[in-house]
Amino acid sequence: MSDKPEKFIDENGLRLDGRQINEIRQMKIKIGVLSRADGSCYLEWGNNKILVAVYGPRELHPRRLQKADSALIRYRYNMAAFSVEERIRPGPSRRSIEISKVSREAFEPVIMTHLYPGAVIDVFAEVLQADAGTRTAAINAASVALADAGIPMKGLVSACAVGKVDGQLVLDLNKAEDNYGQADLPVAMTQDGEITLLQMDGDMTQEEFRKALEMCKEGCRQILEMQKEALKAKFADDTALPVPDE
Ligand code: CDP
Repeated sequence: MSDKPEKFIDENGLRLDGRQINEIRQMKIKIGVLSRADGSCYLEWGNNKILVAVYGPRELHPRRLQKADSALIRYRYNMAAFSVEERIRPGPSRRSIEISKVSREAFEPVIMTHLYPGAVIDVFAEVLQADAGTRTAAINAASVALADAGIPMKGLVSACAVGKVDGQLVLDLNKAEDNYGQADLPVAMTQDGEITLLQMDGDMTQEEFRKALEMCKEGCRQILEMQKEALKAKFADDTALPVPDE
């Protein structure tokens, strides 16, 4: 039995959730939601709900794992057991190990690890509710949480996916488009447009691939603005606090 929709795009060019083909889902970003983490972010994107905690830079133990000239970055992507329809077995899976690895690599070019030899920076991304695009949602949240932790970075990282349904490219896949579409291309990039993560399922022609990257770029540009706005709002608030008397 399959609940595959007959059509993904209607005669008015709208998708099943009413979006245009180049429209991203609504995103909400909250910063500093965890008091014990050095930086944190709660992000909703469509029906995805993601919580990220950042710890560090702090001394890495055991010391034999320390790098003499830079900090080590650790990134753990984890789906809560209740985050999807069919319960996820707790603990790492092939999928979560892969996503953790590529997400860590998405941040390595921007985090100024050389400033903290012997240290570790830990990023914990918890997917509380999943609805397609969780790796990109987690990267968007992690980027903000790293900034909240005051980790020196060359810039923020933003991520979104482009896919193909009914032979057409669509930005930011929803669950049905992800499950039954013809392609899925998650991309993360720096604010200068340098790609730091690129994966692909399915197939696209070279022309489609070029166009998909342009669409991702535009999606990431919009997300970057939201990330910056959220950070400005948080830190504008902080500076508004009265300075304590000496
Ligand atoms: O979430 P993302 O698109 O980055 O990764 P995916 O492997 O393409 O998974 C797409 C979606 O399938 C997820 O966002 C979840 O909604 C769903 N999924 C699931 O229901 N059960 C899993 N074990 C893994 C994913």
